[in-house]
Amino acid sequence: MSEQENSLPQAPKWTDYKLPDLLFTDAVRQLHATIGKEWDALQQSACQTAAGRALWRHVIHDPLADLLAGEKYLRSLHEKIKKDCINNASEISGVILAVRTLWVDSKLEEALHPSHGKDTQVVLLGAGMDTRAYRLGCLKECDVFEVDLPEVLQMKASLLQAAMEYTSDHQNQRIIAKSLTRVDADIKGNDWLEKLKVSGYEPEKNTVWILEGILYYLTHPQAMQVLKIIADKCKITRTTLLADFMNKPSTTLSNSLFHFYSDWPDHLLPSLGFSHVKLSQIGDPDAHFGLLHDPSNLFNRLRSLPRSIHTNPDGTPCCRLYLVTASGSPNQTLEPVDLSLNIST
Ligand SMILES: C[S@@+](CC[C@H](N)C(=O)[O-])C[C@H]1O[C@@H](n2cnc3c(N)ncnc32)[C@H](O)[C@@H]1O
Repeated sequence: MSEQENSLPQAPKWTDYKLPDLLFTDAVRQLHATIGKEWDALQQSACQTAAGRALWRHVIHDPLADLLAGEKYLRSLHEKIKKDCINNASEISGVILAVRTLWVDSKLEEALHPSHGKDTQVVLLGAGMDTRAYRLGCLKECDVFEVDLPEVLQMKASLLQAAMEYTSDHQNQRIIAKSLTRVDADIKGNDWLEKLKVSGYEPEKNTVWILEGILYYLTHPQAMQVLKIIADKCKITRTTLLADFMNKPSTTLSNSLFHFYSDWPDHLLPSLGFSHVKLSQIGDPDAHFGLLHDPSNLFNRLRSLPRSIHTNPDGTPCCRLYLVTASGSPNQTLEPVDLSLNIST
């Protein structure tokens, strides 16, 4: 999305939302029943983010999102949004997700600009119900790899298959990317990179890595290991990372699910070997998209406080989500420095 388009979208009619008929077919109902019964909260978070994309349809074009989110998460988020509207809330539920999605879309498009070289592959770690390979024209020359746990990727394929069988119009189920490969892997383990290679990922090729809604579910050593593996690639090829980081207070929102945090990802990533790092906060000019209509919204209040401050004037924690672009290539790579003594991650 261009700077020009990063302006006011049309006001949505939230009450008009109707669940699509496809969700009520036996096949789709059964698949979502399995998700409800067998998946843990971490896996189900993939459906929650899809629900956000489905309901923020006035700004995100993701026609497969309702199918992948399922009735439960769609209804639950829709109820919250309706309450926010009734209460004239200064932020509408799901806005963080909407901004994050649009931010990743726009940074991905920038990273794939021909001036950065041709033949770039894109790897999504913790891809969940992401459908960028189906919806973004900028991926048409790219091999895309979605990495997630086997149950999640298998379920996603089954839901997409059920949609194919339901309708004769397969327009929305067409992959736009040059190729899409799903790679079953646990990124907490040691073999995910090998599994990617076996699936066709080429370490020497320019690569954009998307880590959206995933790092904070890992422990500190696990997240650092993943980031180091990616940063190391700067030594051999042009490498771009698009990722969101929670600060420490944000992890208290769910003590059981959130672990890794970094208050200073813009210091951490150069220490791992990235040469260019840009950090944005929700509400910044490149992370606004005209979606924060109330000037006194929470994100503007947070942005007005120094990042080192962890508590708001009213005593509540300053929960921040940082959106970070980092890149590096062999002729730019900095020697990693040991900042462990003076940087708290
Ligand atoms: C919050 S969802 C985000 C999904 C997607 N990136 C998005 O933004 O819609 C987190 C995803 O990470 C996946 N995930 C969590 N831990 C993982 C691990 N150790 N290895 C691979 N995937 C994992 C989950 O299965 C889930 O699909």
